[in-house]
Amino acid sequence: MRVFPFRPGTLLCAARLCVAIGLLAALPMPGVLAQQAAPAGSSGLSQGDIARMLPATDMGANDARNRDPHLRPVSDSPATPFDAAPIPKNPLAPDADAVGAKTCIACHALENVQASHSLHVASFRVGAAHSGPQAACETCHGPGSLHAKNPAAKGTIIAFTHDGGTPVQAQTQVCLGCHAGGARQHWLGSVHENRGLSCSDCHNPMARLSPEGVLAKPSINEVCSSCHQDIRAKFNRRSHMPLPEGQMACTDCHNPHGTITKPLLKTDTVNETCYACHAEKRGPFLFEHAPVRQNCLNCHDVHGSNQQTLLVAPIPMLCQQCHTMTQHPNDLQSAAGLGNGVSPDERIMGRGCLTCHTNIHGSNNPSGPKFHK
Ligand code: HEC
Ligand code: HEC
Ligand code: HEC
Ligand code: HEC
Ligand code: HEC
Ligand code: HEC
Ligand code: HEC
Ligand code: HEC
Ligand code: HEC
Ligand code: HEC
Repeated sequence: MRVFPFRPGTLLCAARLCVAIGLLAALPMPGVLAQQAAPAGSSGLSQGDIARMLPATDMGANDARNRDPHLRPVSDSPATPFDAAPIPKNPLAPDADAVGAKTCIACHALENVQASHSLHVASFRVGAAHSGPQAACETCHGPGSLHAKNPAAKGTIIAFTHDGGTPVQAQTQVCLGCHAGGARQHWLGSVHENRGLSCSDCHNPMARLSPEGVLAKPSINEVCSSCHQDIRAKFNRRSHMPLPEGQMACTDCHNPHGTITKPLLKTDTVNETCYACHAEKRGPFLFEHAPVRQNCLNCHDVHGSNQQTLLVAPIPMLCQQCHTMTQHPNDLQSAAGLGNGVSPDERIMGRGCLTCHTNIHGSNNPSGPKFHK
């Protein structure tokens, strides 16, 4: 190993310099706020700079599906671009006119500062001819002249909250105006739409609360857990897939915007959902185990289980639900046969039935019709 001459003085100097720079940066700088509030054009950044700073928008929602040769590919139509943005009609204030973002900002300085970091508003600010800075608020909130005159009157502006006066359907229409199709193809009629959810129950485009997806909470799982606490609790059980560890999300299996499969599964069947990650369970197998082919949920509880490997019941009871009268009869739970009995039975000890029937999901071995190999 080579040893470099080392002078502690240099390091100290460097450290001091760092501290000084840090202090300088922390000092309140007049104009910083004003700069954030101003349209992007005046900040000295080019449109290209800002475009690069915006979050990646392809969330890969259908990547796995598109790669899977067994599934129909999904065409995720791109959103209507910002520069083609219309000002949506507010059904509760049909006569209102657009007043421009400058007017909104005059009263909503705080919201403006927060929203300046958000995907939509930042993009509108660099948008081309039709949208541009002036459309930055009203493209979502609708024309604001009546609201600006009388802010206390409910419904004069499109509000995205449940007590803001705007009907939920009018709220979702705004977002769907640009985001119909793709993953939201089945929004209308979906369970979430039927139960009166608005896009803003899961999304908050007014600030950057999540790294991607414009979500209302820092992560997808926190968004879903805010209502589905029972499901989230199941993931705390002894056996669970690594969702609490942050390696999976509810949306790996579900599309919250609506699907043709109950309950909001992204694929046509439960098994297709599982094969997306557990491809080896698809087979084909020389000897299939019928319940595996039929539905993984015959034996597994996806969200979590207190049995090993997400099983719905402990072995041997799991198997005995279906196999009672086999060549080795399964009336095993006799006092004598238990682990502390007079003649303990190996079929209910250790790995139980799996000691011998090891390849329970199916076998490709010529001598594996009973899943021994
Ligand atoms: C004027 C058109 C327009 C409107 C209105 C609009 N969006 Fe967007 N939105 C876009 C564009 C353009 C993108 C970026 C490109 C893309 O993702 O396809 C985007 C991106 C998104 C994304 C993806 C962000 C990411 O990180 O990938 C979400 C989520 C989103 N919008 C939600 C909403 C919600 C919720 C509303 C209603 C409150 C809304 N949008 C209203 C045009 C619009
Ligand atoms: C004259 C000041 C003023 C102007 C101009 C103004 N607002 Fe407001 N706005 C307010 C006040 C005050 C409230 C709170 C009203 C309340 O709580 O009853 C409000 C509330 C809102 C809300 C929430 C409504 C709800 O019920 O949840 C939205 C959204 C909103 N404004 C958007 C806008 C937009 C977009 C513009 C520009 C078109 C704008 N405002 C212009 C003063 C203003
Ligand atoms: C992409 C659509 C979109 C754009 C663009 C947008 N808003 Fe919003 N705004 C929303 C949604 C959705 C909510 C509801 C957020 C929530 O759940 O609290 C909201 C909420 C608000 C509120 C109510 C207070 C709050 O934070 O909940 C105000 C005020 C507001 N927006 C003002 C503005 C102003 C001013 C602009 C322009 C700088 C703007 N909005 C641009 C979608 C948008
Ligand atoms: C129940 C919660 C929920 C509701 C309601 C919801 N979303 Fe989403 N949305 C999500 C989540 C979670 C993601 C991230 C998806 C992912 O990463 O696979 C997302 C992603 C998106 C994206 C970006 C990825 C894509 O598919 O293009 C857009 C755009 C979007 N939502 C728009 C909307 C619109 C518009 C509405 C209202 C009609 C809406 N969402 C309602 C939870 C929701
Ligand atoms: C604002 C509350 C809310 C949020 C947030 C929410 N949901 Fe739901 N979800 C509901 C309601 C209400 C139902 C209907 C329950 C019922 O009918 O029993 C439902 C039903 C479901 C169902 C069952 C569908 C069926 O056909 O039975 C699934 C799956 C689901 N949600 C997944 C999700 C996922 C994934 C997320 C996060 C992206 C999410 N939900 C976020 C309220 C919510
Ligand atoms: C590995 C895939 C997978 C993941 C991850 C997943 N689910 Fe599910 N979910 C399923 C399957 C499969 C079903 C069908 C269960 C059934 O029919 O009994 C289901 C059913 C549901 C249901 C309706 C039936 C019920 O059990 O109440 C809800 C609600 C739900 N999931 C919400 C969620 C939420 C919220 C998350 C994230 C915390 C999540 N799921 C994560 C696969 C998954
Ligand atoms: C998005 C990918 C993904 C999907 C989809 C998926 N899984 Fe998993 N699954 C995982 C991961 C990751 C693990 C953890 C593997 C490990 O720890 O080695 C896992 C583990 C398991 C385990 C073993 C758990 C244990 O405690 O050892 C079972 C059983 C399982 N999954 C069943 C299913 C079923 C049934 C489905 C379909 C409803 C499914 N999985 C869908 C990713 C997925
Ligand atoms: C007849 C009951 C049964 C059915 C149906 C079933 N499994 Fe299993 N599965 C088991 C048992 C038992 C274990 C534990 C095996 C062990 O410990 O060696 C297991 C373990 C697993 C594991 C973790 C160990 C491994 O082999 O990777 C995964 C992943 C898994 N199953 C996925 C699936 C999928 C995906 C399906 C649907 C295609 C499915 N299972 C259907 C009984 C079943
Ligand atoms: C949901 C019902 C169900 C469960 C649970 C189940 N099986 Fe099966 N199993 C079947 C069916 C149906 C067949 C096919 C019987 C046939 O073809 O005659 C089968 C076939 C078998 C066979 C081959 C029998 C033959 O005649 O070739 C073995 C061995 C077997 N299962 C063992 C197990 C074990 C061990 C478990 C527990 C881990 C288990 N099964 C759980 C329904 C089930
Ligand atoms: C010590 C090893 C061993 C254990 C433990 C074991 N089996 Fe078997 N099992 C076998 C053998 C060997 C056969 C094949 C018998 C034959 O082909 O005549 C068999 C056959 C079967 C069959 C097919 C019977 C038929 O009629 O063709 C089923 C079903 C079965 N076992 C279920 C189970 C269940 C359920 C358990 C747990 C309660 C279990 N086995 C535990 C060794 C075992």
